Amino acid sequence: MKLANVFWLPRFSLSVVVIMMSIAFVSLFSHVQSCFPYTCACESPPIRASPPISFSYKTGPGILGKSITDTRMADMENKFVVDVEKLRAEFLQVLRSRRSVEAPLRVESAKPVTDPLYQDATPPTFSEAMESCPKANISNLKDLLQEENLYLITEAGEQGRLPLLIISLKEKSNQTRPAVVFLHSTHKNKEWLRPLLEAFASRGYISIAIDSRYHGERARNKTTYRDALISSWKNGDTMPFLFDTAWDLIKLADYLTTERKDIDHSRIGITGESLGGMHAWFAAAADTRYAVVAPIIGVQGFRWAIENDKWQGRVDSIKPVFEQARIDLGKKEIDREVVEKVWDRIAPGLASKFDSPYTIPAIAPRPLLILNGAEDPRCPLDGLKEPHSRTCKAYEAAKSLDNFKLNAQPGIGHQMTSEMVKEASDWFDKFLK
Ligand SMILES: *[C@@H]1O[C@H](CO)[C@@H](O)[C@H](O)[C@H]1NC(C)=O
Ligand SMILES: *[C@@H]1O[C@H](CO)[C@@H](O)[C@H](O)[C@H]1NC(C)=O
Ligand SMILES: *[C@@H]1O[C@H](CO)[C@@H](O)[C@H](O)[C@H]1NC(C)=O
Repeated sequence: MKLANVFWLPRFSLSVVVIMMSIAFVSLFSHVQSCFPYTCACESPPIRASPPISFSYKTGPGILGKSITDTRMADMENKFVVDVEKLRAEFLQVLRSRRSVEAPLRVESAKPVTDPLYQDATPPTFSEAMESCPKANISNLKDLLQEENLYLITEAGEQGRLPLLIISLKEKSNQTRPAVVFLHSTHKNKEWLRPLLEAFASRGYISIAIDSRYHGERARNKTTYRDALISSWKNGDTMPFLFDTAWDLIKLADYLTTERKDIDHSRIGITGESLGGMHAWFAAAADTRYAVVAPIIGVQGFRWAIENDKWQGRVDSIKPVFEQARIDLGKKEIDREVVEKVWDRIAPGLASKFDSPYTIPAIAPRPLLILNGAEDPRCPLDGLKEPHSRTCKAYEAAKSLDNFKLNAQPGIGHQMTSEMVKEASDWFDKFLK
């Protein structure tokens, strides 16, 4: 039983350890994939415990319905590469299908936002997890940091202005530096991420945050995001949930790799919390310029949730659009049909060909750390079994197993913890420094 590499373990008392080990021991001999809910590295014993591993996928690209043997490895690798390219092309096609006129890459200067808009009922004031992010020991850090406020034009129209907040150490040398893109959660904004941006900047990174679609500077009032989701359901002309921001992040990668002489273009990481974790996932799946990836409490199985009646947690996070759909479909309650129809309409393919079993393996062989809470109702851990095992296969085929890890923190729901922030931070240091 290998539990030593579970990062939060030392914080637990002995009795908790004993309980955890018993649970792990029991589950090792059940049919449940027993790395859950702990560290699900591909080489962890439980996954090896039931060879031969075979797959039976219903849809999507990849290695279909065959058991894997060493002799087929080379073949599988090729097939995987080809399918990933196809998947990316299809995703890009969907993104383009609801774009206003494409605009040439353009940067405009902006002013710092002193009173950022939160769409939460009660705006938060403090995040212990973000404040705990490792920092360099610099006493006059505030004096040494510099801040840029910019707009990047990603398409025509009001939402085509992508607000950027970039924080870094003032540097005299011309050496390029690694960069990390940080993505905020639902109803928050780029300013909310300041503690993370500053902590990473203190450690030599160029830290970049954006307002995602209909958030922060891209929102007019507290119902902008909600209104956009409902309008997308009614009109099917935008993709406010995940996909429009994925488009922005592709444009952001254009900017970072063509306009920024201070950034090492091969060392750009991406991470985010919750909605931001999903944004990091889709941006990295779509664009290989994101070289190191750490989605936090974002990765989940959309199809799995529909098929296993576990969609409620996710639906609750953007309830009004599902409520509107329920009314429009003449139903008494939100049910799986409502959920399926909403995803199909506002984010086509999200619960099918672009779901995690297909888009997460597309990140291989780049370093990918998935951080979740083991009890998260929005990202149920059981829904990650298929994406996890498929992703292992992809990293195995690319001979990069060490580049993939899934950590699910025991006892934690939909919450980004200090441990997750530390783990993500270490992951970027390991691969970007
Ligand atoms: C931080 O640096 C100061 C001054 O260089 C030193 O006194 C202090 O012990 C350092 N703290 C840590 C945690 O390394
Ligand atoms: C850095 O680059 C600028 C412009 O490219 C140049 O003028 C300057 O001399 C360089 N500084 C160093 C320290 O190389
Ligand atoms: C928010 O702004 C939109 C668009 O201007 C408007 O239709 C809506 O009524 C506003 N909502 C609130 C709560 O002010």
